[in-house]
Amino acid sequence: MSKLVLQSLTKRFGGLVAVNGVDLEMTEGEILGIIGPNGAGKTTLINLISGIHVPTSGNVFFDGKDISTFPAHERSKMGIARTFQLIHPLENLTALQNVMIGFMFAQGMNQKDAGVAAQKTCESLKLEHVERDVGQLTILETKKMEIAKTLACGPKVLFLDEVMAGLNSDETKDLIETVKRIAQEHNLAIGVVEHVMGVIKMLTARVIVLDAGEIIAQGPYNEVSQKPEVIKAYLGGEA
Ligand SMILES: Nc1ncnc2c1ncn2[C@@H]1O[C@H](COP(=O)(O)OP(=O)(O)OP(=O)(O)O)[C@@H](O)[C@H]1O
Ligand SMILES: [Mg+2]
Repeated sequence: MSKLVLQSLTKRFGGLVAVNGVDLEMTEGEILGIIGPNGAGKTTLINLISGIHVPTSGNVFFDGKDISTFPAHERSKMGIARTFQLIHPLENLTALQNVMIGFMFAQGMNQKDAGVAAQKTCESLKLEHVERDVGQLTILETKKMEIAKTLACGPKVLFLDEVMAGLNSDETKDLIETVKRIAQEHNLAIGVVEHVMGVIKMLTARVIVLDAGEIIAQGPYNEVSQKPEVIKAYLGGEA
């Protein structure tokens, strides 16, 4: 069983401690919510796990191996995938071609096999209009394409950084169902960063709350959201 373990994970940018002594374990099949106010360190945490940043101190273990200093492409090969808060799809290509390129690069597939695999992945996400250029996709279709690209890497652990942003309520429901389905079908551990608490409530069994880089609370959303320290972190005042 794949397991991601963070031990005292810390990242400093000059005088600023963006992630501070984070301990965490995630196992296959689990959807974990990662919440906290703007600048709390959520994206930096994902960057440390996926290899965009090397920690200042502390460790990232995956399947028992210390991968703290591994480059991003090696972590991706091992099964750690993520979406980006600001996405950069390949323009002038269709949605299907964007996903195909994922299969060709990540899994070394030839064009024909990548086409078949990409089609299958897009179907499983109920991503329509795969023949359209990315510029013509709806926001929901673009988000699904980004998720399809991560699945092309054959992930075991997946981080979604605010993928629901910009969706209306029907589209949000659709994407929540999609994320639940891929967690089951691919037996993934998924870390979900979201500002919309309704999404966190529907999607996750457990949440961690980050504030100024530290985990200040964790547990089921309904319990955590009642804690005075969490209310205070969100409102920025007295609970
Ligand atoms: N590459 C960087 N260099 C310097 N400071 C950074 C860098 N990346 C992030 N920071 C700082 O680290 C802190 C945490 O940022 P981060 O982006 O992880 O927050 P976040 O929780 O994802 O916020 P948001 O909800 O707004 O996306 C912020 O103060 C941010 O300005
Ligand atoms: Mg962020």
